[in-house]
Amino acid sequence: MTREQCEIADENDELKIFRNKFKIPQDTIYLIGNSLGLCPIESQKIANRVIKQEWGQNHIDSWNTAGWYHLPVKVGNKIGKIIGAEQNETIISDSTSINIFKCLGTSIAIQKIKNPDRRIILLERENFPTDLYIAQGLVNLLSTDEYKIRYFDDDNRLEDVLGDDVVCILLSHVNYRTGQLYNMKQITKLAHKVDAHIIWDLCHSVGSVPINLTKVDADFAVGCTYKYLNSGPGAPAFIYVNKKHQNVAWQPLTGWFGHQAPFKMSKLYEPAPNITNYLVGTPQVLQISIIDHSVGITLDADMQAIRKKSLALGDLFIKLMDEKCPSLKLVTPFEYEKRGSHLSYQHENAYAISNLMRKRGVYGDFRFPDILRFAMTPLYTRFVDIWDVIGIISEVINDAEYEGFDGNCVT
Ligand SMILES: Cc1ncc(COP(=O)(O)O)c(C=O)c1O
Repeated sequence: MTREQCEIADENDELKIFRNKFKIPQDTIYLIGNSLGLCPIESQKIANRVIKQEWGQNHIDSWNTAGWYHLPVKVGNKIGKIIGAEQNETIISDSTSINIFKCLGTSIAIQKIKNPDRRIILLERENFPTDLYIAQGLVNLLSTDEYKIRYFDDDNRLEDVLGDDVVCILLSHVNYRTGQLYNMKQITKLAHKVDAHIIWDLCHSVGSVPINLTKVDADFAVGCTYKYLNSGPGAPAFIYVNKKHQNVAWQPLTGWFGHQAPFKMSKLYEPAPNITNYLVGTPQVLQISIIDHSVGITLDADMQAIRKKSLALGDLFIKLMDEKCPSLKLVTPFEYEKRGSHLSYQHENAYAISNLMRKRGVYGDFRFPDILRFAMTPLYTRFVDIWDVIGIISEVINDAEYEGFDGNCVT
């Protein structure tokens, strides 16, 4: 492969028009769309519209006239199309962390009715920390004598620790650190074999890997909008609840926006009879308006085309790294069925390498203690970007400039 061949691949790329929809930073190759996606050009216009017109001119009337009230469901349904949900199974609300709490709490409440003796929450030990922390906090609240966490990992495989005492499994579809993609169909089936629920954390797969929650009959799912969905820092997350679990039991954060008639100001909580009861407080109108647009970009692009390009970019990255930077060890599985959209490499000086790369305009990121991550973001990453990045990384490694480097913490 030569740089010219990469240029030809970019020329023939069916997704090439999408790059023009983003603010591409100058003199920078941005391979960190799995952390914070780039800003769509239209986002600023949308923010201006909401602030100047909807809020500035039409003030409180906009709850009705601009459709603010219905935004969480409207935009949730748009994301639902990306994750293969049915209508009114997905809503935008709060953060992923908070939505994990809602899923765990609801799962426990449903199992109390269906399988009242179950007490185990099953977690993958290498889950993103917030997934572990939220489960630990909930178990602590409910009393650790009653509910317990059981972990699975390479030594204690899911199959071996999954029994008929399990309430639910909480697992990331793509692991944040290793980039490993888990088999959603197989694992969901495994959970259902013992009547346990599965909660999928889609933060690192939504917008980068095709997902069909209906087909696999998933129970619950959560995910970020600020990574591959490019909706901006702190943009609220989504939550998916399979229709069969809606209104079987209350979700645990019973706020007024989840009430069936919030403006009746009733003294008693009565949940809205649909996905709306997963709202808690007032929706984040400005940011959800931005999500509305950015999710539309992904829908226009088609998930199969995104996945195809993501794997092709990944193949090129792996091949060039093998040739030019053999001292970096690939941690992500090579097989397509086990690979998400970011690649993780291990190196004892990963932290210093990450800092030096940034000085040269390459944005990957570092994960403690020794991992470098590089995200393929097919809507705006080009094949020549991969070519150029590997050239820079190999210079950093081969010049051994990192020895003795003492930089500040990077995200
Ligand atoms: C896999 C995964 N789960 C959960 C989270 C937490 O999301 P939030 O900060 O929106 O709660 C992240 C954040 O990066 C993540 O990568």
